[in-house]
Amino acid sequence: MGDSYIPPRRGSIDNPLRIAVLISGGGSGLLAILNHQLSKPSCHVTKLIISDNIDSKGLNYGSDFNVTSFAIELPIIQDKYQQRILHENIVHEKLIESNIELVIMSGYMRILTPIFVKKWKGRLVNIHPSLLPKYPGAHAHRDALADGANVTGCTVHLVDEGVDTGRILAQSEVPIFEGDTLEILQERVKKVEHLLYPQTLDNYCSK
Ligand code: GRF
Repeated sequence: MGDSYIPPRRGSIDNPLRIAVLISGGGSGLLAILNHQLSKPSCHVTKLIISDNIDSKGLNYGSDFNVTSFAIELPIIQDKYQQRILHENIVHEKLIESNIELVIMSGYMRILTPIFVKKWKGRLVNIHPSLLPKYPGAHAHRDALADGANVTGCTVHLVDEGVDTGRILAQSEVPIFEGDTLEILQERVKKVEHLLYPQTLDNYCSK
């Protein structure tokens, strides 16, 4: 996959990095980032929230926190690959228009094409709910439970052209207990994600 990451400039409290958060659903991770940025002087600031889903509850945090937020849904065209390219082009344009310097995927349920990744590589971060390289893909909790694992966790990583294969920035472990359901495990992992993601962004933005 190559290690050709181009990092963002170094953010500071006086001149924080302008970040965009990409979401698809509830946006609890986004909320944790927004609260973190409000709670103390930060070297990153959220300037844009984009969802690929108009019904995404997380979009409401835009008005709550006075951050521009909107949905960019998939355009309706037959060819699936062209549809992805077109969609990503619109997202990219909006990021550029808002002078975004770092893109944060937080529960964004789309796999980005290598074309988009190349434009943002090193400035595109994701959180995944497992201890990568274990349980990549869309069903990390289901896979951990099916495996009979007694520990899982979450990983913040740079995005590369693969699926959940980019350079790891930070990880936290989370225990799995007997009788855990998918929902229970998901909530336990999210609690840890909400600490790990903002902290990791602090470190990455001030490097
Ligand atoms: C998180 O667990 C994240 O790791 C995964 O999707 C979940 C997003 O939850 N990719 P939310 O929308 O932030 O509540």
